[in-house]
Amino acid sequence: MCGIVGYIGDKKAVEFLLEGLTKLEYRGYDSAGIAVNCGVNIFVEKAVGRLDALKEKLKNREPEGTVGIGHTRWATHGRPSDLNAHPHTDCTGKFVVVHNGIIENYMSLKEDLISRGHKFISETDTEVVPHLLEEVYKGDFIGAVREVLNKIEGSYSLVFMSKDNPETLICAKQDNPLVVGLGKGENFIASDIPAIISKTRDTYILNDGEIAIVKKDSVKIINRRGEDVQKKVFRVTWNAEAAEKGGYEHFMLKEIHEQPKAVRDTMSERVLKDGSAIVMEELHWDKNFLDSINKIYIVACGTAYHAGLVGKFYIEKLARKLVEVDLASEYRYRDPIVDEKTLVIVISQSGETSDTLAALKESKRLGAKTLAVTNVVGSSIAREADQVVYTWAGPEIAVASTKAYTTQLILMFMLALYMAQIQKTVSPERTRELIELLKKIPAQISETLSDVDPIKTFARQYGFNEDVFYIGRSLDYDVALEGALKLKEISYIHAEAYASGELKHGTLALIVEGVPVIALATQKSVYEKTLSNIKEVKARDAVVIGIAAAGDTELEKYLDHVIFVPETDELLIPLLTVVPLQLLAYYAAITRGCDVDKPRNLAKSVTVE
Ligand code: F6R
Repeated sequence: MCGIVGYIGDKKAVEFLLEGLTKLEYRGYDSAGIAVNCGVNIFVEKAVGRLDALKEKLKNREPEGTVGIGHTRWATHGRPSDLNAHPHTDCTGKFVVVHNGIIENYMSLKEDLISRGHKFISETDTEVVPHLLEEVYKGDFIGAVREVLNKIEGSYSLVFMSKDNPETLICAKQDNPLVVGLGKGENFIASDIPAIISKTRDTYILNDGEIAIVKKDSVKIINRRGEDVQKKVFRVTWNAEAAEKGGYEHFMLKEIHEQPKAVRDTMSERVLKDGSAIVMEELHWDKNFLDSINKIYIVACGTAYHAGLVGKFYIEKLARKLVEVDLASEYRYRDPIVDEKTLVIVISQSGETSDTLAALKESKRLGAKTLAVTNVVGSSIAREADQVVYTWAGPEIAVASTKAYTTQLILMFMLALYMAQIQKTVSPERTRELIELLKKIPAQISETLSDVDPIKTFARQYGFNEDVFYIGRSLDYDVALEGALKLKEISYIHAEAYASGELKHGTLALIVEGVPVIALATQKSVYEKTLSNIKEVKARDAVVIGIAAAGDTELEKYLDHVIFVPETDELLIPLLTVVPLQLLAYYAAITRGCDVDKPRNLAKSVTVE
């Protein structure tokens, strides 16, 4: 997704701009550009492709100016190209803008501006912004920016630069993240904290509707009406190293290996010391509250949606409340039956996913109570929801989500058990037993991670197959969906997950000799049925790799390869079975020489529709 940086101070702006953009590369992008105020003019350079292409263009001609803005673009309006890359300028080159998000009314604005003689050179929605600024500017930079903001509709984080106002950068936020980093004699702007963390830990995290007027030794925040906003400095406590690879070849592998710690962190402070109960300090729910809810929706996208499917299982099984799970992109447009008796739980690692945020806003509009499960403190979704519980997984950099998923699972499990305690739908003995097993999960993930050699071998053996199928029943099916997503997104192998019982309703036709099938068989309640599905695919000469719990002696009788995970309750086993699937996807991608951390066409944080 697009990244924004800005600098104002006494140093050569280009140095921070390129460094900051490099730190944001993990967000995914297809072109990059910078603009630096050089006094006589604003220097602009852009290049399609990786940042190296931009650096190449800047070789021996880096601008000296000390005020600048930069951007990495992920194409939405118009294909990736030099012209469509940001920053964008007006007709005179005096106003320059970078933008994340979408200007929804850009077509009508563009037509109007063209009729007034403005010349457009890109296909982007963003380009209307500098032209609007040119149109309304009468010498008052701040006033003109406010006027522009009143004309545009949509979502944005925007940074404005003006040749004639070299002492000021202005930025504005609506539904897209934006942070101002506070330095000494210099200030920084970025769409994400990693871009500025090596420069400063003191920040202002902008809220929707806020505008920051950033000079080299001051930052003033106002609202859209021009009134002063008093903001507290937010001190970033996580260190820069946490956002680096820490010795692993890829962020994804590092994050897979961080899972024991991540799930432990998620649990910490939420399990009563004596192991008798779950505590959710953030929620303070009681029986009255839960009795007032007659339906729960879990709404999310991608991997977070898969975590939602498991969450549904947990809540229904433990707390006996009806739960529907929906994709945010579907839910938001399908007139869902939601009212004040509905609890909507949105799950989002980034807390910025556009569809999830919109679904949340729609739920609130319909009167629902809302809860966000997210990893990013202060994210848009965290701020928008009535209540929020954080997964505390630490920053997730790789595009493919791993530790976010397992921490979401842990959190949904604890939430379900917490609800069950209030509802008294699970006995104290069973609660204790589950908490005891829950506490063992971090160590069991470590154990699962310690035996990767067979997984590497399978990845090498089958990494060049065109299709892979994943099958399972009950929670195994939910994990199969996640395993298939991991494989397709980073290795580009066509991977599909099916509920094993569905095979004979169509998919079995695709199972022929040599097709790899990953079969999860950990759910005791449906074990026999799963086994007969496995025999069905085996009979068609598929290559079946089983995923089973330690102690399973049955599966090995039928399969050549079985990967075992430690034994636990069948409710908790998804936290273990997903690990070999993540590793399988990772090593298959390595086998095929794919760019694991930045898979093609994908972005870490999907802040546009
Ligand atoms: C897949 C992946 C995506 C995200 C999805 C939602 O590995 O990462 O499917 O899960 O884009 O993102 P968040 O959780 O940030 O809302």
